[in-house]
Amino acid sequence: MSEHTGHHHSPTHMGHHHHGHHPQGCKGANLVQHDFNDKAAKWDENPLVHELANKALESIKTHVPLRDDMNVLDFGCGTGNLSFLLLPFVQHVHGVDSAEGMIEQFQKKIQQGAQTRLSCEALNLSEPYPKQLSTQYDLIVSHVAFHHIENVPGMINLLASHLKPGGYLVISDLQKTPTAEEFHSKKQADTVFHHGFDPETLGAWMKADLSTVEIHKDAYSVKKKVEDGQHAGMLNDVACLLAVGRKE
Ligand SMILES: C[S@@+](CC[C@H](N)C(=O)[O-])C[C@H]1O[C@@H](n2cnc3c(N)ncnc32)[C@H](O)[C@@H]1O
Repeated sequence: MSEHTGHHHSPTHMGHHHHGHHPQGCKGANLVQHDFNDKAAKWDENPLVHELANKALESIKTHVPLRDDMNVLDFGCGTGNLSFLLLPFVQHVHGVDSAEGMIEQFQKKIQQGAQTRLSCEALNLSEPYPKQLSTQYDLIVSHVAFHHIENVPGMINLLASHLKPGGYLVISDLQKTPTAEEFHSKKQADTVFHHGFDPETLGAWMKADLSTVEIHKDAYSVKKKVEDGQHAGMLNDVACLLAVGRKE
C-alpha cells in the first residue's frame, strides 16, 4: 500500500480516517486484512468455523470428483481448516490468505502435525496488490471468503487463469437470502462486500471464464445467532451455495 501512505494528510482525504488509513472510504482489502489479523488467534475457538468447513467438505465431496493426484489451492484459507479436511482426498493443498495472522496459525498446525502435503503463504490477491501465484492447479477452492472480495468477476478470472485444463474452481459461500445480511455483526459490515450471492449472478460471472458451471443452491446450511440489530438473539438459518466451474 506504499502508494497510499503519502496521502494521509492530504486535505482531500480528510473525513475518511475513521477506519485507519484507507483513502477510498469505508471498505477495502486492507481493512479486511486488518480485521482477520485481529481474529486469527481465536479463529479456531469458534465452533461455527468448524461446522461450516465440515459441511463445505461434504458438499465438495458430493459435487466434485476429487482425486488423490490433485494439486489444490485454498484461496482465503484462514487457519486452514478446509485445507486439512481436504487432505485425505488429494495430493497437496496450498493455502493463501491476506491475513498474516491466519497464516501464522495455519503454519503452526502444519508444523505440529508434521504435514508434508500442506503449505501456506500470506498473499493478498485483490487489487492493487501484485498477483504472485506461479503454479497451475487441478482444483481451487474458496470457502466463505468471496463475500469479502470486492471485484468478484476479476477474482474468478484471476483464479481461473491458474487452473490446468480440466481443473475446477469451487466457491463455497453464503447464499443471498433475507437473513444473509444478518450473518455479520454491524462491526464487521465494513469488511463485507456481498451479503451472500445470488446463484444466477454468480453463475453468470463464472461462465465468463469457465466452460461447465453448476451452482448448487442450498448446498448446506448452518444456524447462527443474530448479533445485533432488530433481530438480535434470533437463531437464523443461513443457506450456503456451492458453485463449481470447470475449465475446458
Ligand atoms: C470468513 S474467513 C474464512 C477462512 C477459512 N476459509 C475458514 O473457513 O475458516 C475469510 C478469509 O478470507 C481472507 N481474505 C479476504 N480477502 C482476501 C484476499 N483479497 N486475498 C486473500 N485472502 C483474503 C481473510 O483474511 C479471511 O481469512
